[in-house]
Amino acid sequence: MKQFIEDIEDIFKSAFANAGYDESYGVVTVSKRADLCEYQCNGCMSAAKAYKKKPIDIAEEIVRQIGDDPAFEKVEAVMPGFINITVSGGALAQKLSGMAKDECFGFEKEENPKTVVIDYGGANVAKPLHVGHLRSAVIGESVKRIISHAGNKTIGDVHLGDWGLQMGLIIEQLKDDEPDLPYFDEEHTRPYPHNAPFTLEDLERIYPKASGRSKEDEAFLKRAQDATLKLQSGYEPYVEIWKHIMTLSKADLKKNYDALDVHFDLWKGESDAQPLIPDMVKDFKNRGIAVESRGALVVDVSMESDTKEVPPCIIQKSDGAALYATSDLATIIDREKSFSPDEIIYVADKRQELHFTQVFRTAKKAGIIGEDTKLEFLGFGTMNGKDGKPFKTRSGGVMRLEHLIEDIKAGVYDKITESDDISGEEIRRIVDIVGLAALKYGDLSNQASRDYVFDIDRFTSFEGNTGPYILYTVVRIKSIIDKYMAGGGDITSDMSDLSAPVTDKEKTLMIKLTSYPGVLEAAYKELAPHRICQFIYEVSDVFNGFYHDTRILSQEDEEQKKAWIKLLAFTKDILVQCLKLLSIDVPDRM
Ligand code: ARG
Repeated sequence: MKQFIEDIEDIFKSAFANAGYDESYGVVTVSKRADLCEYQCNGCMSAAKAYKKKPIDIAEEIVRQIGDDPAFEKVEAVMPGFINITVSGGALAQKLSGMAKDECFGFEKEENPKTVVIDYGGANVAKPLHVGHLRSAVIGESVKRIISHAGNKTIGDVHLGDWGLQMGLIIEQLKDDEPDLPYFDEEHTRPYPHNAPFTLEDLERIYPKASGRSKEDEAFLKRAQDATLKLQSGYEPYVEIWKHIMTLSKADLKKNYDALDVHFDLWKGESDAQPLIPDMVKDFKNRGIAVESRGALVVDVSMESDTKEVPPCIIQKSDGAALYATSDLATIIDREKSFSPDEIIYVADKRQELHFTQVFRTAKKAGIIGEDTKLEFLGFGTMNGKDGKPFKTRSGGVMRLEHLIEDIKAGVYDKITESDDISGEEIRRIVDIVGLAALKYGDLSNQASRDYVFDIDRFTSFEGNTGPYILYTVVRIKSIIDKYMAGGGDITSDMSDLSAPVTDKEKTLMIKLTSYPGVLEAAYKELAPHRICQFIYEVSDVFNGFYHDTRILSQEDEEQKKAWIKLLAFTKDILVQCLKLLSIDVPDRM
């Protein structure tokens, strides 16, 4: 469906053409001076140069051409040659009614749907989930929903870090702590236990201990590296330990992601790519894609156009070990085979950009992925504390996700109990929903690549550009509609015929709502959830302005009341759809 502003622009383009000018001058923008008009056309200024006329003369000509088009309430040429546009309420109502009938409210789905793999989450097995992973999960989930909303097939893959040094660290620490476990019996005389001989809590203790030790004790680090290599080459006792670690850790990760309302189609990891590595490396070597350099195997990926040096992509170390890039390349082969995707999007810390540049270039150079397949890196910035440094706990360690969520819920809890009389069970449910909204919105409302400051006070505030403020607005609308319905009103039969506005603030709200398809389009094209956040914040603001000035439920004219309720319902539907795309839930009340 054409956007409202495009409808207006079409009228202006025809007017320019009919008056003998190039239609490209008919560009219409949203007015920067809302006090003067709603939209404006500034094309006469440049047309004047091209046609050697006075801008105001052209502007007046265009206004005459437009005449009394029903789309407008007023079209006015002003010095030195701008055209101020006030649209008609009828045209607005007609447009919004059309949008309301459409499932996507006027947003056009992809004509040729694509298959898109989204690699996000990226938690590391047996290590605590930290705030960096939060960003990947939250942004990735939203991006996936937006792409899917546009009609594409999406495959979300958590791509666990499950094949690294952490495994060797745990194995060696376990060996020291419990040398009698059958895995460490060189004679292999006893069977390996069916159930893990350690718990998740044990792992949560063992890993930090081992990790800390490896930083001070070089011999221990070397042992862990050797154990990792042994695991990677298939040494059975260690593979057995690894399987137990995987089972425990995955179950815990699932719980964490579920709690965030983040859901993956695939629970694959680096380990799944390992079987493909030997053949891949051989193939790269045979075809001369990879060459030897100081004992290692590398792929030259530099390009003449590079302004910064892009070092070769190392796919095998001199000791024969595979690297992070090797796993990612083998994973591309796997994804190509399973899905032949049109696009793969990686949502990871922006400090990994060079890694992905190397991987993407290698993949293209080696032809393991189609020439037209888009490989895209969506890098996000760091979540900082109020001191501007990467977010830490009070004791200085990395913050675990659960604790972060607890803290933010506590922040919400204070505000809700402060102001309300809802009790017990319901409060807890509300706090869960609003807490997550505060967290996710606080993250998503920033452009992903930017660093941002995690500020519980601000994120949980019911005022300003926050999750709770948006939810509060939706809940307010719901409650007005509920009251209307409880009083015998009914809007269910003719939801989609909206009426022309009768107040200025109502009109402002309606104009804002017309921009929804354009906002979604931008969010989709740019993979930018923050565009949606900005929009719902603006909608909430203009809605609250309208609500503040208008006595809706006590309106005596029943027809008028009904018209407003319908506009409210439409506003709510759009807000709820947006929140769904951000993976934010709405409570019944708050
Ligand atoms: N596990 C990685 C980390 O914690 C993120 C994985 C990103 N995805 C990928 N395909 N490399 O940094």
